[in-house]
Amino acid sequence: MIYPKIIGTGSHVPEKVITNFDLEKLVDTSDEWITTRTGIRERRVVKEDVPLSALAFDASKKAIRSAGIEARDLDLIIVGTISPDMQLPSTACFLQEMLGAKRAAAFDIAAACSGFIYALSIAEQYIKTGSYKTILIVGAEVLSKVIDWTDRSTCVIFSDGAGAAVLQASSEPSQVVLSTHLFADGQFAKYLYIPGGGSLHPASHETVDKRMHYVKMSGNELFKVAIRSMEEACLIALKHNGLRPEDVDLLIPHQANLRIIEATAKRLNLPMEKVVVTIHKYGNASSATIPIALDETIRAGKVKKGNIILSVAFGGGVTWASTVIRW
Ligand code: ACO
Repeated sequence: MIYPKIIGTGSHVPEKVITNFDLEKLVDTSDEWITTRTGIRERRVVKEDVPLSALAFDASKKAIRSAGIEARDLDLIIVGTISPDMQLPSTACFLQEMLGAKRAAAFDIAAACSGFIYALSIAEQYIKTGSYKTILIVGAEVLSKVIDWTDRSTCVIFSDGAGAAVLQASSEPSQVVLSTHLFADGQFAKYLYIPGGGSLHPASHETVDKRMHYVKMSGNELFKVAIRSMEEACLIALKHNGLRPEDVDLLIPHQANLRIIEATAKRLNLPMEKVVVTIHKYGNASSATIPIALDETIRAGKVKKGNIILSVAFGGGVTWASTVIRW
């Protein structure tokens, strides 16, 4: 039997902190509104000249080091992101060059906040079928560059960061990805999108004047879909593995909103002590939130051998996804 084993993780957040009080000076908002509605107290953002690949590189180097491998051992690199360095080529190709991962195939996937679990699922399949042995997956975003800093409904939420994991084919059933489940529903695409810059509305003076290159979000509509979908994805994942919610040692949810996280935990009857929360300090870095939370939890020594980790994401598309990992 070939198991997809997580042999290393790494993460990186930019040094620059923006607090809610800083945002009070930019838009008509308050620390009280942001904290009570989202749970965010501060977030990290890159300096102006830092692209996505730089964050992805830092997180990947740490993951490769913790895996005890060399970059040249990688067969494949997958980057989940909606804020790539460029439209062409993929950021995964820039990362491959920066790492010196000469043998690796490389591509990006766009599944918004579900990007890391989508990437994990692809890696899981390649390893289980024997196509590839060692795969680097990355969830990374520089959303500070695609949000409208005059729009209070988005600029208080989104942030930058990167997390990575190395998966390897193993005969040992530990630190193993037991399952991944992916979902999408394009009817809700209109609730979270960047209208400009693609083939529908190529960049022009008009798209820039109309601020079409920034994230547009109907947060309230997404909120309801998110809670429903995340519960559904968790229950499907648990059932698939013959597990009950009480078997879960750690829930690592996407960090979109503390109220969504708490509602998901409540619906699963999981106490908040079992739930990993980073949103207060990092905000919503989309595809990066889950790998950052996973890496920090592992490095803090909070993941024990045999623990069942349930992770669930929800994001633009809309997409949602879940995974169960046995440590
Ligand atoms: N400061 C002060 N007031 C604000 C702010 C702000 N930053 N933003 C909005 N408001 C106001 C609104 O204008 C509105 O005022 P009104 O009642 O006078 O019209 C009021 O606050 C309530 O606005 P809502 O949008 O209804 O607020 P809500 O409680 O829904 O919270 C939030 C907004 C935090 C965005 C929430 O809806 C949410 O978290 N949604 C889910 C987002 C999500 O899951 N996205 C997908 C993942 S992200 C990804 O894929 C990249």
